[in-house]
Order: sequence, then structure tokens, then C-alpha cells
Amino acid sequence: MRTQVAIIGGGPSGLLLSQLLHRKGIDTVVLERKTRDYVLGRIRAGVLEVGFVNLMREAGVSARMDAESFTHDGTCIAYGNDQFRIDFKALTGTSVVVYGQTELTRDLYDARQAMGGQIIFNTENVQIHGADTDAPYITYDAGQGEARIDCDYIAGCDGFHGVSRPTIPDTLRRDYEKAYPFGWLGVLSETPPAHHELIYSSSERGFALCSMRHANLSRYYIQVPLSDGVEKWSDAVFWDELKRRLPEDVAERLITGPAIEKSIAPLRSFVTEPMRWGRLFLCGDAAHIVPPTGAKGLNTAASDIHYLYNALIAAYHDKDIDGLARYSDRALARIWKAERFSWWMTNLLHRFPDQSAFDLKMQRADQEFLAENEAAQKVLAQNYVGLSY
Ligand code: FAD
Ligand code: DHB
Repeated sequence: MRTQVAIIGGGPSGLLLSQLLHRKGIDTVVLERKTRDYVLGRIRAGVLEVGFVNLMREAGVSARMDAESFTHDGTCIAYGNDQFRIDFKALTGTSVVVYGQTELTRDLYDARQAMGGQIIFNTENVQIHGADTDAPYITYDAGQGEARIDCDYIAGCDGFHGVSRPTIPDTLRRDYEKAYPFGWLGVLSETPPAHHELIYSSSERGFALCSMRHANLSRYYIQVPLSDGVEKWSDAVFWDELKRRLPEDVAERLITGPAIEKSIAPLRSFVTEPMRWGRLFLCGDAAHIVPPTGAKGLNTAASDIHYLYNALIAAYHDKDIDGLARYSDRALARIWKAERFSWWMTNLLHRFPDQSAFDLKMQRADQEFLAENEAAQKVLAQNYVGLSY
């Protein structure tokens, strides 16, 4: 088989790139290790920057998102019983959009299917060959023996545990990593959200986040030790702990119910450089991970897709390969700023096992300064709504 751009990974990055390119007449094939249902079963991000929303519009897949998503003009930050609001709209002129990763991935799968886009599921043993030559190809097994796709370019959109990143030789690649000594326990419940905007809460017992998907679907997170498994967290224990980490008035009005999904994700900052090797381009979680505080994971994937999509259009339509040559530098320049913001917000709001009394005072001073200072709030708001592409 031959295609122009072979895409490894049928998560949001790979599907969005495939959909965008198809609409510009560029042929793609997507290889996904799991099934569509498996991918859609993963509950992940919920907050989209305007840049992501615009890409969904450009990809022609925004109808349901435009109808069903919620625009948030601000967010609440709580520390102990004190709360303040960051007014994104007033401080930056921009808002964010609340629409679940599951929903946008479903929209992308539906759109790919409607356009006859080729997605091969259950692919095993995917291997990249000749990425540093003019004739790259991929081999894989989708249950009928080894198959081969020849292509012009390969987009490695296969997440943190994919094959694309390790294909770049160790001698040419440098990984930067920071692991945090806790994870987030996430719970999805068919209950009304605690508040009409998100609440990021820093408490003596650790971090908590109240988020939502829609009027009767809430998403909550609490910081937990890495050693905890979900079995340790019955619904009753979870709700009790969440309430103890929220300001009293929020806890009092919190409506609880059965958890319909519960999972723990470790927190990590990670960047690999460069994001390109020959004709292989890394996008999204394949190249970088942020801790989820600040909702940048999915949004950094979108900026990579923006740069790669535009570079591929220029290469195919105008025979201009400058964008491809500069892809890694452009993507990384924005990624590192999102890494810094996610790391800073994680430090601002979590309890760390080794925090000294001095460290705690510094953290509290940071929170109070943010609560009182409009310039500091503006910096947070600019980063949260998303830096320009
Ligand atoms: P992925 O979504 O990981 O997609 C990669 C795809 O590639 C997967 O479908 C995988 O099955 C496939 N794949 C992997 N290896 C291969 C292979 N060898 N061959 C073929 N296919 C392969 N971000 C937030 O902003 N907020 C959150 O609350 C949040 N929660 C998260 C919770 C978890 C548990 C995780 C892992 C991430 C979370 N993120 C969150 C981050 C966000 O979901 C990711 O940034 C986003 O999914 C990145 O999209 P992607 O398409 O680059 O990668
Ligand atoms: C959600 C996740 C985040 O990491 C975040 O910062 C905000 C919202 C969510 O899943 O809704």
C-alpha cells in the first residue's frame, strides 16, 4: 500500500491531522494499536484552547462541539477557605471551551468514516523504516501477517508509549523529564457540577479540581500518593476526601453520586528533542507530556498538529519545505512555555511530601500574591487560554 502521509496513532493528534490533510487533498492512512471503542473509553482532557477549537472548525468537525460545548470566561482558584476568580475574558479577551476529549475524538472518528478515511485498527508490531531516507515505510501486522505502507512522510502521533519516539536514535535524541511524587485520581459522575466554572483547590490535604463535561456530568480529581490504587478509593471515601479539600461553601453544595469511571494517572513533565528525524515528525504525547494542572496536554498536541499540517500543505501545494525543516524548533518553542506553565501551576497548588515549613510559606505567598495582583493573574490567564501559535 502507498499513501502520502502515514500516521501512527488514532488518538486526537493522529485523527485531527488525518482529517485536516484529507480536506486539502492529501492522502493519509492511520494505524491504531487498539479498537475505536477502546480509544473512546479513555476519559482524559476536558478544556480546549481557542487554537484547538479553530483547528476543529478548519477540519470541518465542529458542529457538535459548537452546539454542545460550554464557553468558560474564567476559573476559580481556592486555597483553604479563600477563593478568587481569574477572569480570562477581562484579562485576555479570550475564553476556553469545555468539551471532553472523548467527544471530540468521537467526532473525528465519525468524520473520518464519513469521508472514507482509512484507519487500520488493532495494528501490532508497527515499525518505522528508512525515516532518514527519501523512501520511508512502515511495517505492521493487523492480523493478516506483515503488511507494508510506503509513504512520503510519517507522523508519529502514537502517544507516550508509542514506537515513533524510540525510532529516533538515542545518539540524536535528548529526553528531559521530571516525575512528580503523586498522581491524580479522576472520577466521572452523573451529577451536576459543583460550580459553573472549574475550581482548582489547594488544601492542606492536597490538591483537588472540580471540572465538568456538561450540566449533569461532573469530573473531579484529587491528588493521591503514587502508591495508591483505585481499589483504595471507594466512592464514599473519595467524596469525603474531595469535600475536605474544597472551601466549605463548595463542599456543602456538592452533589455526589456513583462514580461511572475512576482512574489514577501519574504526573510527569517530559520533552524529547528534536521532534523530527528525517521524514518522521513527532506530535502530541509522543513527544511531550505535561502534568494535567492547567489543562495543557491535549492543547499542546493541537499546536504540534497546527505546525505540521501547515508545513505539509506548503510542501505539497507550494513545494516549500521550509516549514518541515523548522517544524521541531517551532513546536518546541511553544511546548517549553506550556511545560513551564504546567510545572508552575502544579507547584503552586499541590502538597509535596518533602515540602519544608519554609516551602509552604513560599507557596502560600505565591497564592496570596496571585489572589491580589492583576498582573500575576494576567500571566496565568494568558497561559491558560493558550499562547498564540
Ligand atoms: P494519545 O491520546 O495517547 O493517542 C495515541 C494513540 O496512539 C493511542 O490511541 C494509542 O493506542 C496509539 N498507539 C500507541 N502506540 C501505538 C503503536 N505502536 N501503533 C499504533 N498505535 C499506537 N490532558 C489534559 O489536558 N487534561 C487531563 O485531564 C488529562 N488526563 C489524562 C489522563 C491520562 C491517563 C493520560 C494518559 C493523559 C491525560 N491527558 C490529559 C493528556 C491528554 O489526554 C493527551 O495529551 C492527549 O491524549 C494527547 O493526544 P495524542 O493523540 O497525542 O496521544
Ligand atoms: C480537566 C482536566 C485538567 O487537567 C484540567 O486542568 C482541567 C480540566 C478535565 O478533565 O475536565
